[in-house]
Amino acid sequence: MTVRVALIGCGFFARNHMEAWRDLPGAEVVAVCDLDPAKSQGFAADFGARPFTDAASMLDEVRPDLADVATTVPSHRPLVELAARHAGAVICQKPFATTLEDGQAMVAACRAAGVPLFVHENFRWQKPWREIAARVAAGGIGTPAFLRLSFRHAYDIYANQPYLAEEPDLALTDVGLHLFDLARWLMGDVARVSCETQRLNPRVKGQDAFQAVLRHASGAVSSVECSFFTHDAPDPFPQTLGRIEGDRGTLELLEGHRLVHHAAGAATETDAEPPVPAWGAKPWHLVQDSVLAFQAHVIEALAGRAEPGPSGAHNLGTLAVTLAAIEAARTGTSVAPRATGS
Ligand SMILES: NC(=O)c1ccc[n+]([C@@H]2O[C@H](COP(=O)([O-])OP(=O)(O)OC[C@H]3O[C@@H](n4cnc5c(N)ncnc54)[C@H](O)[C@@H]3O)[C@@H](O)[C@H]2O)c1
Repeated sequence: MTVRVALIGCGFFARNHMEAWRDLPGAEVVAVCDLDPAKSQGFAADFGARPFTDAASMLDEVRPDLADVATTVPSHRPLVELAARHAGAVICQKPFATTLEDGQAMVAACRAAGVPLFVHENFRWQKPWREIAARVAAGGIGTPAFLRLSFRHAYDIYANQPYLAEEPDLALTDVGLHLFDLARWLMGDVARVSCETQRLNPRVKGQDAFQAVLRHASGAVSSVECSFFTHDAPDPFPQTLGRIEGDRGTLELLEGHRLVHHAAGAATETDAEPPVPAWGAKPWHLVQDSVLAFQAHVIEALAGRAEPGPSGAHNLGTLAVTLAAIEAARTGTSVAPRATGS
């Protein structure tokens, strides 16, 4: 069965969604929508789908198997609630929501309609992190006790996404939540969070760097750091570097997608670099391959062969950690994430 997809939001990042859907034999994008007719017509011309400027009309007419919401966060709640009534399943880009109330409303709307809800959370679908998760699950480092995630670079993210320069809690709400999803996926639920933020780039309004410490329910600790104003050569963008330590070994992810596994007194290095899609280019292939992997996973989940990773309900917990980090940075205290009820 081919999954009939309708895309909402034909902006910068959605082009990756469209290229990836075109690569997947189990999916076909039948309609695309953007408030800006030039954008929906541009995608329609490039990818062969019907263009619309109004999401309600598109969904009513097309009744897709899957609505792929690729707009920025202010429109997520109304579009997901709309899509829940007209589509067989919904994907929402990150950030899922800015408040727990909005996130909970979207989860409730999809649940009431009996419609699966996925959040396009692609960092956990990056090839090196999938490899690390598989090795941890196979017992390769024993029981994990410490995780470090580091996303530090100086790439000009404002060129393609000018709205980011206006975001008050930029680093936490743009990339922090990706890293918190990775930390929860690898280390489990988070019991409390402390966080320091910095505004480093004078061109941007908000906090463009942070360091958060997560205490997990298991007792494990994660150190999560991010900066959009770091001068490294070579600049590791868009890689997330890190290490995860257990009682029997350590996995290190180094610049250049090098994965080093330390165990039993020896270190083994493997190349965890993903392939470059036919439509892709380095260094974006890490992101492009992760979009492809996430969307392939959605097809698998819709066929009943996987659980949504992550679901909207799971991502509420990541939103709660992000909001706790914002509060922790503001108050200089350690904050427990709010219960999400899901
Ligand atoms: N997962 C990732 O790695 C990743 C990377 C970059 C961006 N993103 C996320 O993707 C989302 C989109 O980011 P972007 O940079 O592509 O933004 P963008 O502004 O380039 O594109 C958003 C598009 O949505 C359209 N739109 C807004 N409201 C609409 C509505 N009600 N109906 C139809 N169209 C509507 C806008 O006209 C615009 O063309 C953001 O939430 C961003 O955080 C994710």
